[in-house]
Amino acid sequence: MIYLDNAATTQPLDIVIDKMMEVMKEDYGNPSSYHKMGLDAENHIKEASNFFARQLQCSPEEIVYTSGGTESNNMAIIGTALAYKRSGMRIITSKIEHDSVSQAFRFLEEEGFEVIYLDVDTNGYIDKEELSSSINDQTSLVSIMHVNNELGTIQNIEEIGRTIKNKNKNTFFHVDAIQSFAKVPINRRKSQIDLLSISGHKIYGPKGVGLLYKNKNLLTRPLIHGGGQQRGYRSGTENVAGIVGMHIAAREIISDFDKYTNELYSLKEGLANGIINNIEDTYINGPKVKDGAPHILNIGFKDIKSEVLLHALESSNIYVSSGSACSTNRQAYSQSLKSIGRNKEELDEAIRFSLGINNKESDIDQTILVLEKTVPMLRKVLRPGGKRR
Ligand SMILES: Cc1ncc(COP(=O)(O)O)c(C=O)c1O
Repeated sequence: MIYLDNAATTQPLDIVIDKMMEVMKEDYGNPSSYHKMGLDAENHIKEASNFFARQLQCSPEEIVYTSGGTESNNMAIIGTALAYKRSGMRIITSKIEHDSVSQAFRFLEEEGFEVIYLDVDTNGYIDKEELSSSINDQTSLVSIMHVNNELGTIQNIEEIGRTIKNKNKNTFFHVDAIQSFAKVPINRRKSQIDLLSISGHKIYGPKGVGLLYKNKNLLTRPLIHGGGQQRGYRSGTENVAGIVGMHIAAREIISDFDKYTNELYSLKEGLANGIINNIEDTYINGPKVKDGAPHILNIGFKDIKSEVLLHALESSNIYVSSGSACSTNRQAYSQSLKSIGRNKEELDEAIRFSLGINNKESDIDQTILVLEKTVPMLRKVLRPGGKRR
């Protein structure tokens, strides 16, 4: 089995699973309970918060745990926009955000907010001038993703943070770092980020857990009301085992960050070259290999519908994605591909290969071999008269 869908989700590390089992078996107390069992559970959360606070150069009280990336993004965007409604109704994002961001903005639009969706260039980068001219004194929030989940584009968040704060120091900056945390260096402080979302299952941890870094000087209206856990920002008994799993996963990956990053880039380069050089009529969607994130490679195969190729690869036990896995619930074309100017045919022929730390060179070699055989075969069937379109 060759799993090349690591941007959709990753396999939890063994050490993560073992630790979560231990916590569920032994430290199953409610972190809000006053007795020792409660304290033990609470300590697990504190340890995790201390760790994430070190990574994000913030204080542990600025970490709020959630049910995953989607909730973190919703809390950051809706919670902040509503809290600062009186000081401004203009909010800004880009056209290539994940649904958990763009749908939160759509919701706010329906609630009367003025939303500006920034264009991107052919590689998926936003234009800092357009950003700057879109910010006015009514702008409470800008939300821009760090790494795009479909194209692997890495936005220059330091420059974006500077642009925002130079224009209006009262505008808050949210970053969806779900595809970048533990994969691409982030300097939260230098980038002047006020809110930052992370998800456990993208970094070899469990699903259904995430966190939001929230600047302590910033108010967010809670989306979930109840017992007042997590300083009232997110009620509900904390997912202790999930939080521990996300902590251990992040710790393991970050401790070998350079090694993993180099390995992923080398695999990505091998895969990109193998496809582009050996299979005709193929092209990269998004930035050049080294400019993009180490784990995401999006390639178009002319005249082959991505779904057909996806299933053909599946029959050889190779798992890829035909776009953002998280958006397959909706029968819509990829907003990211559309926004970088791909035409209708091109939207249909994009395959996302996403690499993980478990992939080996032999996986890449085997994938290229299978593609070299499969692509011409499919084209013979799919191209009218077997000819190029
Ligand atoms: C960039 C980005 N943001 C948000 C999410 C949603 O995260 P979760 O699956 O933890 O809700 C994803 C998941 O694919 C993502 O890639």
